[in-house]
Amino acid sequence: MLLTARRLSKVLQLTLAVIKPDAVAHPVMLEALHQRILDNNFVIVKCKDLVWRRQDSERFYVEHSGRFFYQRLVEFMSSGPMRAYLLAREDAIRHWRELMGPTKVFRARYTAPESIRGQFGLTDTRNTTHGSDSIESARREIDFFFPDFCMEEWMDKEEPLFRSGQIHYDDQKQIHTLSTQS
Ligand code: RTP
Ligand code: MG
Repeated sequence: MLLTARRLSKVLQLTLAVIKPDAVAHPVMLEALHQRILDNNFVIVKCKDLVWRRQDSERFYVEHSGRFFYQRLVEFMSSGPMRAYLLAREDAIRHWRELMGPTKVFRARYTAPESIRGQFGLTDTRNTTHGSDSIESARREIDFFFPDFCMEEWMDKEEPLFRSGQIHYDDQKQIHTLSTQS
């Protein structure tokens, strides 16, 4: 799929999105979420399926250690496969969080029934997706999941090309790539 028709004028922002184990366990849901990402004009820069060890989960959620839900969150996030996305879009952090909807599933169902959590969330722990909540956390979380990715280099060299629409969606790899690379 060529995206040359859609040129963006504002600089692209990067964010980290995760499809949590409750959703990855259901291939149809996983596919629907992938499509939702594409339908909402996110560029998929990277995509990776992985399973966390308990220590990874504890380290990622260290800011919540001590909260009443920490143990069950840590356990759940290391209970099975998940999928991490490095996404780009204008205002990507805000748009992805808006698309996810409220953290609490009952609130999501009532106040944002069309949101991902409103539609697919099971409980406040098994709430389908994660998204970075600030530029600082996006930087930390991208580094956590994609340690080989250099944000500065991407912003400098690739962002202008992605923004000007010189990209394809690669059906096989299920990510966007620069047209010059294919
Ligand atoms: P996330 O970090 O996953 O994108 O979600 P968030 O910013 O909307 O929520 P946050 O306050 O950062 O909480 C992180 C994750 O902890 C779990 N949680 N469980 N009452 C509970 O049982 C509870 N509260 C929060 C959720 O899985 C949330 O995504
Ligand atoms: Mg959070």
